[in-house]
Amino acid sequence: MEKIVIEGGYCLEGTVAVSGAKNAALPILVSSLLTEGWNTFDNVPDLKDITTIKSLLIELGARVETSGNVVKVDASGLNRYEAPYDLVRTMRASVLVLGPLLARLGRARVSLPGGCAIGARPINLHLKGFEQLGALISLEHGYIEAQARSLKGTEIYFDVVTVTGTENLMMAAVLAEGPTTLRNAAREPEVVALAEALNRMGAQITGAGTPVITITGVEALKPTSFTIIPDRIETGTFMVAAGVTCGNIKIVGCEPSHLRAIIHKFQQAGVTVQQEADGLRILGTEKICSVDVKTLPYPGFPTDMQGQFMVLMCLANGLSVISETIFENRFIHVSELQRMGADITVSGTTAVVRGGRGLTGAPVMATDLRASASLILAGLAARGTTEISRVYHIDRGYECIEKKLAQLGGHLWRT
Ligand code: EPZ
Repeated sequence: MEKIVIEGGYCLEGTVAVSGAKNAALPILVSSLLTEGWNTFDNVPDLKDITTIKSLLIELGARVETSGNVVKVDASGLNRYEAPYDLVRTMRASVLVLGPLLARLGRARVSLPGGCAIGARPINLHLKGFEQLGALISLEHGYIEAQARSLKGTEIYFDVVTVTGTENLMMAAVLAEGPTTLRNAAREPEVVALAEALNRMGAQITGAGTPVITITGVEALKPTSFTIIPDRIETGTFMVAAGVTCGNIKIVGCEPSHLRAIIHKFQQAGVTVQQEADGLRILGTEKICSVDVKTLPYPGFPTDMQGQFMVLMCLANGLSVISETIFENRFIHVSELQRMGADITVSGTTAVVRGGRGLTGAPVMATDLRASASLILAGLAARGTTEISRVYHIDRGYECIEKKLAQLGGHLWRT
């Protein structure tokens, strides 16, 4: 079992480039199922989850070619509509094929994703939306059976903001008959990127990035080329790396306009964030101030940055109240941070971090993608050696994170 070993206490300095966003690449790669002919996607991160979604596209009959960070997909040969359990089990974002398969083939059979470390993560709103578009949905033997002779545009209201729910329904509606309006839609940059890619394929989508998205169905879409947006969560993770090591890091290739809430919280915490021509410069400080954080749908503070920011608050000089409003079980990293000396009290979906004691290295275990990133950050800040096991979680969402941090002066390696 691979581990990442970290010798803490070294300042990180230098320049690091962020990769393409995993959560933009996944839906955009899947959207190629809506077209016939070669789509070319650039700046696709080389991640385990991307490998998984490419395998799924091939399983469905598409052709996929990869050259570095360029991925080409031709779904002309789409001839199967089943996403098998063993693929969906490893990556719940596989449910994103439901919309395109219904739109293109009028049929889909996708394993219902099981639970996840951070929460139940149901997809009831995806399925309710498909039914409103005219699909027949049933659940048999752990699989979602969906079929629709035709999809007819309608008004869909999301009871809660759902990122992949918005993306799934958007992809189903682009070939439906007539207009569809998605209300209380997710506003994430990854949703906007998907809408832009679909519009380049010939879709007619307006309002992406606002709570009301309108999709006017068209006859067919054509293949396109598209560059994946930078990963705002990887960017935020490197920002914390500078903050917890009192470092001086230049992050290039990032999109600061996607990071407003994160930058605001860093400035409140006393970490300097300077916008430069080609990226962001982060200057850590010995005197980190405690700030409260509440995770919210975009443009609020992202839940995927909650664990990483908690590590910064462990080094701050007071009390920080961190409220997790998106997922019901996203404090798993707390018990691992406590093994490193963190003083954190959890009550329901609120964690109170009492900073100032510093962290000490320890053997810890990664439990989910973003929690494992927070353990790496804690190891960089801790006195002594940290060993992180189950690092396969980290490889799902970060491209060679230990190499990127090592070239910034971090003392860490994979065993
Ligand atoms: C996306 O997950 C991201 N994944 C997650 O990133 C991210 O944490 C999450 O959005 C929130 O920003 C991808 O984009 C591939 P949701 P998603 O549907 O779409 C509830 C990472 O580490 N809900 O926005 O699955 C749900 O339980 C991952 O990269 C329903 O109740 O999240 C949750 O409480 C982790 N019914 C809330 O909505 C539904 O039908 C938000 O979930 C759908 C969601």
